[in-house]
Amino acid sequence: MNKSGAGELQQRLGRARRVAVLTGAGVSAESGVPTFRGADGLWRKYRAEDLATPEAFRRDPKLVWEWYDWRRQLIARCQPNPAHQAIAFLERRSQDFLLITQNVDGLHRLAGSIRMVELHGNIWRVRCLEEGKTTENLDVPLQAIPPRCECGGLLRPDVVWFGEALPPEALQEAFDAAESCDVLLVVGTSAVVQPAASLPMVARRRGAYVVEVNLEPTPLTSLANESHHGKAAEILPRLLAFDSAFRNPHSAFEGPGGPCSP
Ligand code: OAD
Repeated sequence: MNKSGAGELQQRLGRARRVAVLTGAGVSAESGVPTFRGADGLWRKYRAEDLATPEAFRRDPKLVWEWYDWRRQLIARCQPNPAHQAIAFLERRSQDFLLITQNVDGLHRLAGSIRMVELHGNIWRVRCLEEGKTTENLDVPLQAIPPRCECGGLLRPDVVWFGEALPPEALQEAFDAAESCDVLLVVGTSAVVQPAASLPMVARRRGAYVVEVNLEPTPLTSLANESHHGKAAEILPRLLAFDSAFRNPHSAFEGPGGPCSP
């Protein structure tokens, strides 16, 4: 179901002072990264309580790390898809922009996104339980499971697990953006995990134009100004005039930041 065509969104983006995008696992689905819910979702095959909670890690760090090592190997084979690229393109065309992602896979950054908060952390970072220090770790596969810090302390993935607080600065930035943006795109999220699920409601209440792109209807669908159902990698480039703009940078919507150089 499409509540509206691309024309209204193009106009809104052209006038927007501040643009925000919220993404979830669905934006990476066509890159080959599994989502969490739905028919082939990770939470159908694995129990979050065993793999994605601080208690699970205390109980069995080896098991948790084996699962993360498997996911890292899988993600390492994936490339950003046209949905990630269209979002990076939108950032370059926007005066004031923030990408808020729940994904930990790092594919947005690979696609060229810069102004971004990763609400649930990043699977390519590790954190020392002794020193609290975070570092990048790109080893695929990991050299030792569980990996250890130079100080001897146990390392954990620098991601947010169930029952843990989100990074406060990232969360603040995300809510600030939701409160002040003129347009919010919500792409590939089931919109059921808090606090990220509240962001579209906040934006809508503050008068933002909210556009959803998802394979199927979600709790957000009835609230959004536009809902586009289908694959993000097909819909987003079309909605954002990503391809045509690259052929002719002056032909797509002209944001306040001016046309984008490909
Ligand atoms: P989910 O797996 O809950 O939802 C993925 C959404 O993407 C669903 O609504 C699908 O319909 C949609 N989708 C799937 N393929 C798509 C495609 N090709 N194009 C567009 N949409 C598509 O993932 P999230 O909403 O990101 O948290 O889940 C939120 C959080 O719950 C995750 O960050 C993770 C998870 O448990 C933690 O691990 C803490």
